[in-house]
Amino acid sequence: MRKVFIAGNWKMNMTHLETMKFLEEFGFKFGNKNKCDIAVCPPFTALRSAMTVINDDNLEIKLGAQNMYFETKGAFTGEISPDMLKALNVEYVILGHSERRQYFNETDKLINKKVKAVFENKLKPILCIGETIDIRESGREKEFVIGQLTDCLDSVDREDIVNITIAYEPIWAIGTGKTATSEDANNMCSAIRAKIAELYSSDVANAVRIQYGGSVKPSNISELMNMPDIDGALVGGASLKADDFLAIINY
Ligand code: PGA
Repeated sequence: MRKVFIAGNWKMNMTHLETMKFLEEFGFKFGNKNKCDIAVCPPFTALRSAMTVINDDNLEIKLGAQNMYFETKGAFTGEISPDMLKALNVEYVILGHSERRQYFNETDKLINKKVKAVFENKLKPILCIGETIDIRESGREKEFVIGQLTDCLDSVDREDIVNITIAYEPIWAIGTGKTATSEDANNMCSAIRAKIAELYSSDVANAVRIQYGGSVKPSNISELMNMPDIDGALVGGASLKADDFLAIINY
């Protein structure tokens, strides 16, 4: 019922030339025989090149951005607006990634403004939430993650919310090689779905896709995808190697 959604978060990697080379190679091997939705999220400077290869080679790959500002235009030096992304065929926008929270002080309040701006502009957010190792060891991870979810979705409309993707990314599993066990990941994804049902409705909760992220690789993707509440993955490191990303998609 929920179509699997696998997205590659390239973070601060790949020039526009490397992006073209990657997508040409990837597109050739991938051959559009995918059973799931696929997106790549290159840095802003490579979006235009990614768009060109995707269009020219007719690839069934969606484009995502890694961040966005909530204002439409104006004196916001260094920021990127929704219109700028739409002009490049961007469909998804990653918001609230733990690296943005940690290094750029993004708060749930700011992320909430961005979520609303993404919807106002008919884009689709991939909203990242997840706990630190300290929080998990203290046993407060559910309370914390559900708190992030609630604050980031504050006054988001019911009609919009079905188009959100939630990425549950425990911070201690990102880029560390440590994955949450598939049971732990699924437990949290179920708790997220239950909260969405409470905030909206069970129909909405059944429609929303929830990804797991944090050291997803070819060797652990099948086990994660066998879990009932995990609908896909947000892949960092392994999405930078065409063969690994392909193996993940063909799990
Ligand atoms: P990772 O990153 O797959 O390299 O752990 C995931 C992410 O940060 O989205």
